[in-house]
Amino acid sequence: MNYIGSKYSIIGFLEKSIETTLEKSGEKRKPSEMIFADLFAGTGVVSGSFKEKGYSIIANDIQYYSYVITKHMIENNGNLDRERCEKLIAELDALEGVEGFIYKNYSFEGTEGQEHRRMYFTDYNAKKCDAIRIAIEEKHIQGEINDNEYFFLLGSLINSIDKYANTASVYGAFLKQIKRSALKEMKLAPLPIMHGQVECKVYNEDISELIKRVSGDILYLDPPYNTRQYCSNYHLLETIARYDNPVIKGKTGLRDYREQKSVFCERGKVEKAFADLIKNADFKYIFLSYNNEGLMSFDTIERIMKKYGKYRVYMQQHHRFKADNAREAKADSTIEYLHCLVKDNK
Ligand SMILES: C[S@@+](CC[C@H](N)C(=O)[O-])C[C@H]1O[C@@H](n2cnc3c(N)ncnc32)[C@H](O)[C@@H]1O
Repeated sequence: MNYIGSKYSIIGFLEKSIETTLEKSGEKRKPSEMIFADLFAGTGVVSGSFKEKGYSIIANDIQYYSYVITKHMIENNGNLDRERCEKLIAELDALEGVEGFIYKNYSFEGTEGQEHRRMYFTDYNAKKCDAIRIAIEEKHIQGEINDNEYFFLLGSLINSIDKYANTASVYGAFLKQIKRSALKEMKLAPLPIMHGQVECKVYNEDISELIKRVSGDILYLDPPYNTRQYCSNYHLLETIARYDNPVIKGKTGLRDYREQKSVFCERGKVEKAFADLIKNADFKYIFLSYNNEGLMSFDTIERIMKKYGKYRVYMQQHHRFKADNAREAKADSTIEYLHCLVKDNK
């Protein structure tokens, strides 16, 4: 998924920097003996890569669509029957479209006569999305699929429909003309099934609360860098994931997102939230991804982390997230930092 702040393109840099820190600290334990926590998990790409290395994973995100995708990628191991999964995908992909919530509120035909006409998806793809979403829920309620299959199928739908969205990239606005990729008929594609440790756990909570209840060895933190809230930028994926018929408002059909607003996107609040997070973290190794344009300055981060042990930083140039380019004339790349702390007395 093309996601703001995704670490997909710099995963090698992160893995190498984390491994170097562990080596330099004389860490002797094998990955299978350690817990790796990714508590701003987003697309789950970092959790997934450390799961593949054999770590036991704790993942978390405040957004429900992220929880669904990550729950499948991290918690589902050998407990899914591949053949059955393929059959379920084919069955859902063959469904006739239904005029459901997504069609009625986010497609051009479906919003005819309404105050706001929207064009987030073609009529066909919106109906197909509704049909699949409704069928997944019904199958789960009727006991035809178990929880593992439910998250596999729902995660696959979220990941698939996102590729056909008529947006510049995020759901803060839709395009006035249907773009080529959005015109194609949606195909339900299965998410991969990853094998790894059985003891993995995924949460859907505010990190500031969760951090008081979890502990482990390596904590990877990848908070939002700026004021762009994920809850408003990905509101449609949230609604498809929850399918809770929310009251929606305005030109873009936003759901109420007050409960999911992140303090890490607020200039006046982020520093304290981050300081509390580091203070409360019961982990020996703590890593923070942040760039040179983030709300917190480099010096602030260094000061907060240094208080608790040995601190160092790795850096790499990072190509800017695509959606930025069209809007503002900013530098093409940013400097991506990985701040590392090895806590004393752990
Ligand atoms: C930079 S993105 C993470 C990207 C992820 N590492 C990846 O590669 O896909 C930040 C994530 O933090 C989540 N988030 C923001 N505030 C949060 C909070 N208070 N608690 C938990 N998650 C939060 C957002 O929903 C978003 O998915």
